[in-house]
Amino acid sequence: MENSKPNSKKKIVVFASGNGTNAVNIYHYFREHDDVEVSHIVSNNKKSRVLRRAHDLGIKCIHFDKEDLYDSTNLLEVIQEINPDVIALAGFLLKIPEPFLRAFPNQIVNIHPSLLPDYGGDGMYGERVFKRILKDKRTESGITIHYVSENYDEGEIIAQHKVELEGNEDLNSLEEKIHGLEYEHYPKEIEKLLY
Ligand code: GAR
Repeated sequence: MENSKPNSKKKIVVFASGNGTNAVNIYHYFREHDDVEVSHIVSNNKKSRVLRRAHDLGIKCIHFDKEDLYDSTNLLEVIQEINPDVIALAGFLLKIPEPFLRAFPNQIVNIHPSLLPDYGGDGMYGERVFKRILKDKRTESGITIHYVSENYDEGEIIAQHKVELEGNEDLNSLEEKIHGLEYEHYPKEIEKLLY
């Protein structure tokens, strides 16, 4: 994609529901980038830390209600107006509906804190994933970056990154390892999609 117009950077819109450390990490990665920017952070959760973090950093924020996503074209129209090159889900817990997928084919990506298809699917997010991995005493885990499809965690895989787990791994140490992988790789994988 050629991008020769001044002040017309490629745009990433990040969707997040909770804490927002990945959203902020992606923002920082592209902050000094010549022709890519995180233009907006979008959340369904008015009280989320991600919206507070985005607000504090001066990033444009959009809050929406479930109805704006599922019962109307309100949110879709707002996002189409922004015209992002990539929509990156980062701890976004709602399913992306069909009209969005049609409007942004191969442009919506997600990160998941396990090596899919293991520990994926409805209800598998954040700590719940880690608790299952620890319970199963896995010796390896990792992250998956994938295209978003109509089913949770089933879209085509773009990249996976692995990490070894120790016998004495606990929730904190596992979370730290996985977040480390996410912060290192998610922005770079998004960047690759833009060129
Ligand atoms: C991340 O670990 C991400 O992989 C996970 O939620 C966390 C959000 O953290 N996503 C899922 O589990 C999706 N099924 P953050 O809000 O601090 O970026």
